[in-house]
Amino acid sequence: MTGSGGWCLRTSRALPIALAVLLVAGACTAPNATKSSRRDKRSASVALESEAVATPTPGRAEGRRGAVAAEHPRAAEIGLAMLEQGGNAVDAAIATAYAVCILNTSSCGIGGGGFMLVNEAGGTVSALDYRETAPALAHRDLYRRNGEILAELSRRGGRAVAVPGEVAGLEAARERYARLPRDVLMAPAIALARDGFPIGVHLAKEIGQNLSALRAAPALAAIFLDDAGNPRVAGDTIRMPALAATLERIANEGADAIYRGSIAIELGVAVRDAGGILSTADLANYQPRWRQPLRGSYRGFEIFTMPPPSSGGVVLEILNVLSRDDLAALGARSPAYLHLLAEAMQHGFADRARWYGDPQFTSVPIDRLTSPAYGQMLRERIRDDATSPPERYGSNPDGGTTHLSVIDGDGMAVACTTTINTAFGAMLIGGNTGVLLNNEMDDFAIAPGVPNSFGLIGGEANSIAPGKRPLSSMMPVIVRTDGHPRVVAGGSGGPLIISATLQTLLGILDFGLDPADAIAAPRIHDQWAPPALTTEGDLDPATAADLTARGHTLRRLPFAGAVQVVAARDGSLIAAADQRKSGGAAAR
Ligand code: DON
Repeated sequence: MTGSGGWCLRTSRALPIALAVLLVAGACTAPNATKSSRRDKRSASVALESEAVATPTPGRAEGRRGAVAAEHPRAAEIGLAMLEQGGNAVDAAIATAYAVCILNTSSCGIGGGGFMLVNEAGGTVSALDYRETAPALAHRDLYRRNGEILAELSRRGGRAVAVPGEVAGLEAARERYARLPRDVLMAPAIALARDGFPIGVHLAKEIGQNLSALRAAPALAAIFLDDAGNPRVAGDTIRMPALAATLERIANEGADAIYRGSIAIELGVAVRDAGGILSTADLANYQPRWRQPLRGSYRGFEIFTMPPPSSGGVVLEILNVLSRDDLAALGARSPAYLHLLAEAMQHGFADRARWYGDPQFTSVPIDRLTSPAYGQMLRERIRDDATSPPERYGSNPDGGTTHLSVIDGDGMAVACTTTINTAFGAMLIGGNTGVLLNNEMDDFAIAPGVPNSFGLIGGEANSIAPGKRPLSSMMPVIVRTDGHPRVVAGGSGGPLIISATLQTLLGILDFGLDPADAIAAPRIHDQWAPPALTTEGDLDPATAADLTARGHTLRRLPFAGAVQVVAARDGSLIAAADQRKSGGAAAR
């Protein structure tokens, strides 16, 4: 292995040299490495406005003392500013999260919830679950009336709303790790909401794609549409003064400002007026949970990710299936590789549908599902020449999630994914609080075999019960060698989070790509049900014919998810943000 690439680790025989590859500059070039793997490191961009240096690749920045990747460039800059002010990776993550949820209002917010993985500089990894939770009045037939399934009610309006976890979660992370005070961390987000900001490319797209739903929701229309009901477009300034006031109260009073008292009452009333079941007691009872992270290994790398109700285990399972194959030798766009990847994804997603749910309510056999032996058993079941025929196909919309990755100069790292579920969540703002509420109830299996808005099905393990957390595809991940974070990653895009994050990791770990190139590489997705191998862009005709002959039904993937990465290499920190969602990176 010669050349000047980064993470190339091409065969399982290369395991002993994994660390060396990571530590030695320019150790290898995979056959598929592109020219930016040989990018001049001196061109690192520091995206703080005061000292910005142009970067040759949009969404890529490199530095030595800290790096942030987020789904909006301004949010990444805000995170970096926290590092500049003496904050650590958690400070940066919290400020970035609050800010990105204003800038990309359709993607996340204090009406939603998420997961955060924290790698302390000393090496301990913690997993924080602040997933939304079913209200106490929820029950398994919440969306069934006279035998009919009313799926729309789990997607829009009051009945779609689960108890938000965002503020409680960010506060739990802040209390345990942060250095900077709450008001400092929240100030940039408050200023954006209060003073306004220009609509970015991604938010403009979401407004355009959700016009009729926005027109039907006056409180959202007042923000995102003009007086004539036309969409506000990229560059138009929007302000959210009510949300700014709510954020200001949280900054002053802490999480109780939203979980108890007048804001909680107002949220409960608004949700119930809109046909929902959220009570003030649900809000008062909400608790984030610190969980034991899942730990696996892949080609000598240590992989940490979120346990259920996240889907981190699904990626560990898929990596176990793939771990004995020489993927780089197969070639990133070869039919053999794409077939194997699709088959491995189908195994992972099938187990997700069957077994995964809130571990407080269902016993997820996570040790077995993520064991190397199970992965190898599944690998042996995969035929190289054929797949099973599909029955059904659903769409993979983009929507209401965001991921951000941070590594600071001390080696502390954060992978954080947060959501209100689909774009603009339940399309419901709670009274005068300005809080855009989630539609996370749709992440439950609302009835056996009934697909949710991402086409995902589930069973008993993910059925609705009071106080239960819906299964999530979100899965922040931290890859380490020798106890040090090497790749911090995660994504947005419903089930595409799993496949997109997986392929970005494979791009870095197996194909030796620079993080920006690993993110940019075209992706596939196969979520078992509906059975279809979806591809980003066109495959070349011979590859398409080969995969069809193996039994795959090929479809075009309109959006392949968005992944944000920070990676450490040779003393450098490289932030790379997915341009599929106009993300931004900042490093110093
Ligand atoms: O937790 C989940 O699986 C979904 N609520 C995620 C939705 C999502 O990623 C939409 N994306 N951009």
